[in-house]
Amino acid sequence: MSSPFILLNYKTYLQGTGQGAVEIAKACKEVSEESGIEIAVAPQLPDIYRVASEVEIPVFSQHLDGIGAGSFTGHVFGKAIKEAGAVGTLINHSERRLTLAEIEASLKSAKEFGLRTVICTNNVPTTAAAAALGPDYVAIEPPELIGSGIPVSKADPEVVSGSVKAVAKIDPAVKVLCGAGISKGEDLRAALDLGSQGVLLASGIVKAADPKAALEELISLV
Ligand code: G3P
Repeated sequence: MSSPFILLNYKTYLQGTGQGAVEIAKACKEVSEESGIEIAVAPQLPDIYRVASEVEIPVFSQHLDGIGAGSFTGHVFGKAIKEAGAVGTLINHSERRLTLAEIEASLKSAKEFGLRTVICTNNVPTTAAAAALGPDYVAIEPPELIGSGIPVSKADPEVVSGSVKAVAKIDPAVKVLCGAGISKGEDLRAALDLGSQGVLLASGIVKAADPKAALEELISLV
């Protein structure tokens, strides 16, 4: 199988805020270069420009609104994200839920600006629905396991394998990631063995005392 994709969501963790966002990105870049595994980061929106300017690493937005240029106060515009240096975006994270119409509009905007797209989902049916929209990735994350330290790939392997199967039927070009509670090498290994093509993760790395060491452990069984 091809090398996995690892996407590190900083959420609003203090450790990943401001200069911390840059430091964690540097650790990701080092581990990525040492291992040859693609590692991308999703800092908070105001930190995208800073991270993208200071570290040569794929940067994703944590959110994108399906709006265009004009009269839209307080929205996240795809062109602004792109010009800030992002190469992709999360859409519909469990902590930033959207309606189906909003997901479709965000996806359209992201594609218009050439951004890679990751639609987050919470179960097999929503994963199937998201895949039908044609993103680059869907990321299945059972909300109850997010931030729990209990890995989805071990606690709920069926939701991962079920998502992989459902997506393959709908659009084999869409890649499947999984996330929630992933932090150890064995969690990533189990995810890959279930057919996932990578992981979306946060607390296990961002909150680690030594994020670089945590990342090295994460990829140790790939
Ligand atoms: O976006 C990643 C996520 O929601 C999983 O969080 O802390 O369980 O790795 P965590």
